[in-house]
Amino acid sequence: MISFKDISKIYNSESGKITALEKVSFEVKKGEFLSVVGRSGAGKTTLFKLLLAKENPTKGHIVFRDQDVHKINSGDLSWLRRKIASVFQDYKLFPLKTLQENIAYVMEVTGAGDSKISSDVAEVLDLVGLSDRVYNFPAELSGGEKQRAAIARALVQRPEVMLADEPTGNLDPYHTQDIIRLLLKVNEMGTTVILATHDKELIDRLGKRVITLKEGRIVRDEDKGRFIL
Ligand SMILES: Nc1ncnc2c1ncn2[C@@H]1O[C@H](COP(=O)(O)OP(=O)(O)O)[C@@H](O)[C@H]1O
Ligand SMILES: [Mg+2]
Repeated sequence: MISFKDISKIYNSESGKITALEKVSFEVKKGEFLSVVGRSGAGKTTLFKLLLAKENPTKGHIVFRDQDVHKINSGDLSWLRRKIASVFQDYKLFPLKTLQENIAYVMEVTGAGDSKISSDVAEVLDLVGLSDRVYNFPAELSGGEKQRAAIARALVQRPEVMLADEPTGNLDPYHTQDIIRLLLKVNEMGTTVILATHDKELIDRLGKRVITLKEGRIVRDEDKGRFIL
């Protein structure tokens, strides 16, 4: 479903060239739950930015559903970013919108009608366990609840793939488990999930495929990985 083919990424910054990824190749099958682990700076976020065509590779190709993502014309990039949804460490909720509005907004821009919007918003909030928080603003939620809301907003676009970039980076261990359980549930419902994290304990317990990145290279790709740096 997703294929990284010999991807290298070199950033040209003021302080010189920075190699973020080097000769990275792997495939992700539909329905997989894949963790990408590595220390800060290992290249995890760059992988996601390349997959969403927010950055261009210096070398190599990324194929999603038989399409080279860097050959998709700008008008169709919204298609790619609907099929591949993202959640982040800092949630990226709109602070001045309620949860209902945060999620409805994503559907409004695709031209969905009011009744479809209200039923789908209710459905995803129920799925993440936030049905009683529909009219709250993000600031009124705990970190774990904010991440649940961000996952609901990602799900409402019915993505095929969910990218979670350090989604538990700001959470305590209890809420971390809670979010991981939710991502596993999303995966069981059929969405391919790619989780980027530096959290060793988290990954050890999952028993799912793990790719380990070190200084931009894949040093390990294991079916039921243990994260060793
Ligand atoms: N826009 C950018 N310009 C220059 N260097 C960057 C940029 N984005 C990331 N980098 C560098 O690329 C490397 C990988 O970064 P990143 O993909 O964010 O890693 P991770 O998400 O694993 O922490 C780091 O050395 C980082 O400083
Ligand atoms: Mg990162």
